[in-house]
Amino acid sequence: VDPEKLRPRPPVVTIMGHVDHGKTSLLDKIRKSNVAAGEVGGITQVIRAWSVTHKVLNPDDPNEELLEKQITFLDTPGHEAFTKMRARGANVTDIAVIVVAATDGVMPQTEEAVNHAKAADVRIIVAINKVDAPNANVERTKRQLYNLNLLPDNMGGDIQFVETSALTGQGIDDLLTAISLEAEFNLADELKADPDRPAFGTCLEGYMTAGEGVNATVLVQQGTLRPGDIVLCGANYGRVRTMYNDHGVAIEEAGPSTPVRITGLGGVPNADDPFYAVDELTTAAKIAEAREKKDREASLNRFQAVKDLDSLT
Ligand code: GTP
Ligand code: NA
Ligand code: MG
Repeated sequence: VDPEKLRPRPPVVTIMGHVDHGKTSLLDKIRKSNVAAGEVGGITQVIRAWSVTHKVLNPDDPNEELLEKQITFLDTPGHEAFTKMRARGANVTDIAVIVVAATDGVMPQTEEAVNHAKAADVRIIVAINKVDAPNANVERTKRQLYNLNLLPDNMGGDIQFVETSALTGQGIDDLLTAISLEAEFNLADELKADPDRPAFGTCLEGYMTAGEGVNATVLVQQGTLRPGDIVLCGANYGRVRTMYNDHGVAIEEAGPSTPVRITGLGGVPNADDPFYAVDELTTAAKIAEAREKKDREASLNRFQAVKDLDSLT
């Protein structure tokens, strides 16, 4: 990577926390749409991704804009079964927002999310949510978080704490400001990418639809992806046919930190598969074939290992 070519890119922020603590509702409020209500049983099953723009205004003069930041958000499920998705979220992320409902306080998946974030060495911001609820206990929740060694600056730490309500909208702007400040002052050096190199990134999700065949939601991390690009994604490859942004609108370009849905791959990739643009279809085919062979051998080896074990016991 040529340092001369690096340009600022938006931070990738993952919303993590215990089931039903309000992750999707917070994002929903940020986007002013209504995703949580549209989910089956109100449960997030997949990683979802969005971009938003936030303006930090001067508190003394709301007409003065101090900072404008584009922010990429990933929403993750809080359910116990989704550990892998939270780990993945933490791995592609710059900032983890740990959402804790002040009604419940710290719960098992809160702790797990904190551990994923720490293991991935990402910046953490705490959102204490549901502060509107009659049984909210903000002070108790804070104490529980301090016990996980998440400390605000007045206690010798450097973690920003924000109190929010996804119901009333209280603290939503504070949360966005906390993210923008974190990006501006603690991550400025890391939040850079070369938009001119061939695209490279991570698959967040792959699936089939009746109309369009193979779909993949990918996060572009370096370079710029365009329809017509040949991409290799895990053991699958193809030419990008159509590319959609987070509003479902077909777009012609996706730069660093942009989540996009693409069609045109020959097979369904796995979440976590790295993807990159390559020059030639034949190159993509060769690498894909080698990977497939390796995958096949690995599963044959696993099969043999199970058989060996069976014969021993
Ligand atoms: P999973 O994706 O299933 O892990 O849940 P989640 O963390 O995304 O929570 P979700 O947004 O689905 O919200 C769970 C429930 O809490 C819903 O009934 C929301 O309406 C409610 N809720 C979310 N935020 C708030 C809040 O700030 N205050 C109150 N009173 N209720 C909230
Ligand atoms: Na939920
Ligand atoms: Mg959710």
